[in-house]
This record gives sequence, C-alpha cells and structure tokens, in this order.
Amino acid sequence: MKDNLVVFYSRSGHTRRLAQRLAARLDADLDEIHELHPHRGLLGLARCLYDALLGREPPITAPTQPPLGYARVIVGGPVWADHVAGPVRSYLTRHADELRHVAFFCSCAHSGAQTLADMASLCDREPDATLMMTVRQIDEGGAVALDAFVTALQPAAAPAAPAPAAGPSRDRAA
Ligand SMILES: Cc1cc2nc3c(=O)[nH]c(=O)nc-3n(C[C@H](O)[C@H](O)[C@H](O)COP(=O)(O)O)c2cc1C
Repeated sequence: MKDNLVVFYSRSGHTRRLAQRLAARLDADLDEIHELHPHRGLLGLARCLYDALLGREPPITAPTQPPLGYARVIVGGPVWADHVAGPVRSYLTRHADELRHVAFFCSCAHSGAQTLADMASLCDREPDATLMMTVRQIDEGGAVALDAFVTALQPAAAPAAPAPAAGPSRDRAA
C-alpha cells in the first residue's frame, strides 16, 4: 500500500497549485476531481453557490487513483459560500468507506474553517492535519503554513534505540 494520495478539485487553479506543491513535498500521487457536467461562466458560478449552500452533490468522474490503495488520502478544494465545494462533497460522501487516514486542505479568499469542519463530518473522520490557505498566501508561496502541514503528515520519528545495558566493566571484572 502506498503512503499518501492528494485528491483535489479546482475551478480556477489555486487549489490545483497548492495540491501540486503538497504532492511534491510529500512524494504523493495526485488525483483531480472532475465534474461530469462542468458549467462555466456566470451561470456556472451561480450553480457553484447553489450547490454549496444547498449541500448538493454534483456528479463527478470516477477517481483515476483508487483511495483504498493508500494509507492516507489528503483531500482539498476551494471554499464556496463558507462551505465545501460541491464536487469535493461528492467525492467525500462517495468514497468515505474507502478512506483510512485523512487530511484536509482548502483554498479561500479569507476563511475556510467551516469548510474543513464540513469535510470531516462528510466522511466521519478526524483528519491527521488540516491546512487553510488564502489565494494571497498561495500566490506568495505560503511556506510557513505549508511546512507545518507537511511536518504534521510525516511519519512519526522512529523511537530512539534503547541504550545498551551496562555490563560489568572489564577493569572491575579483572
Ligand atoms: C462561488 C464561489 C464562492 C466563494 N465563496 C467564498 C467564501 O465564502 N469564502 C472565501 O473565503 N472564499 C470564497 N470564494 C473564493 C474561493 O474559495 C477561492 O478563490 C479559491 O482559492 C478558489 O479555488 P480554485 O482556484 O481552486 O477554484 C468563493 C469563490 C467562488 C467561485
């Protein structure tokens, strides 16, 4: 079984950039969530809001990387109307039973706390770590937040080997 899979949805590219950075840092595989019927333009934006506010689950394509093949799945998406984006909602509810450990990240204009809480309750899992980054932080690199998230997802340091038992000293034994 592989360690980490980063799964994301992105409409305008910010979450994609963040996901790509995370996957590179964690040496993880990457899988993008696609809507089955994407809608562009102003009507598409209105539908994003409508989906998020009503908790709708738009149809999405099947994953190219099965989540069951990974010890941890790190799921991310944009904040829409203070909630999780519809396609991410669809992924989490459809694949909740296939997720072992999880971590979540979101990109937003100013705040994503409710979105991260939504994600945990949708798949009924406590995340190993969470990351929220604003568009501005993503554009500027956001190294501090990214470093903390990556560090929290590193395997626990191996316990130090026990010190060898003190045997009889040669001097004393002689
Ligand atoms: C329909 C819609 C609703 C949004 N609602 C919020 C919001 O409530 N709070 C917020 O901080 N950002 C909000 N945003 C901003 C996005 O979360 C932000 O631009 C995000 O980085 C977009 O990710 P993407 O480029 O991967 O699609 C909204 C954007 C859209 C399109």
